[in-house]
Amino acid sequence: MADNIITLDNVKRDFYRKSEVIHAVDGVSLNIERGTFNILRGKSGSGKTTLLNMIAMIDRPTDGKMTFNGEDITNASDKKRDNIRRTQLGIIFQNTALIAHMSAIENVEFALSIAGIKSQERKRQAINWLDIMGIKERRNHMPAEMSGGEQARVAIGRALAHEPILLLADEPTSELDTKTSFVVVDMFRELVDKQGITIVMTTHDVNIMDVADNIFTMEDGRIIDEVKKNNIIG
Ligand SMILES: Nc1ncnc2c1ncn2[C@@H]1O[C@H](COP(=O)(O)OP(=O)(O)OP(=O)(O)O)[C@@H](O)[C@H]1O
Ligand SMILES: [Mg+2]
Repeated sequence: MADNIITLDNVKRDFYRKSEVIHAVDGVSLNIERGTFNILRGKSGSGKTTLLNMIAMIDRPTDGKMTFNGEDITNASDKKRDNIRRTQLGIIFQNTALIAHMSAIENVEFALSIAGIKSQERKRQAINWLDIMGIKERRNHMPAEMSGGEQARVAIGRALAHEPILLLADEPTSELDTKTSFVVVDMFRELVDKQGITIVMTTHDVNIMDVADNIFTMEDGRIIDEVKKNNIIG
């Protein structure tokens, strides 16, 4: 039986602007199976970020139901959602959003502190993740002193450092060159295969679709196509 980490049941998100209603997400039902790599694709404005923000518990649906790890969290308190987000989710935003007055390593250490990692452990884990991302030597740079790609790699390290069970990544490779994009998605693949984490990632990059187990295509706030590959372990 499928073991779903996230289920969405007819989830909608409306935005109101003056007299206009925008149905950014317009009735999405989907299951994200534990230990799978999922890609969400679709044209600009199709609703990918809006959907991801609801899965990330940053935003709430206007309507519909949502479960996390088998528990109905549709009406969960802000406190409960914050706690899940801090300890069990890793989030990479579309616009990197490093904390501008903190160096690379401080950004990662800060995320670890929010997740409740003890101070003596933080530096070691932060350096380890910056090393994995290939930017250890930039650890004392401020965000403004790094390239877009380097900032993106800090953001990825920051999202993964507390070892979340679910990683949500909004176009994490859009600032990276092709080679680094492949390094990142190969690393994501390995995290899924070896550590059993679950990933939901949005992308426009057709070259990296192959790495995913499931590909969901959005159009006008709806999922219009769902391709599930067989999980071949080899
Ligand atoms: N806060 C908001 N207020 C009003 N409308 C919004 C808001 N956020 C998003 N929208 C609208 O909702 C729709 C979906 O936006 P969303 O950001 O989810 O698209 P996307 O698929 O992530 O696009 P992109 O590929 O450009 O990142 C768009 O029409 C957008 O203009
Ligand atoms: Mg977006």
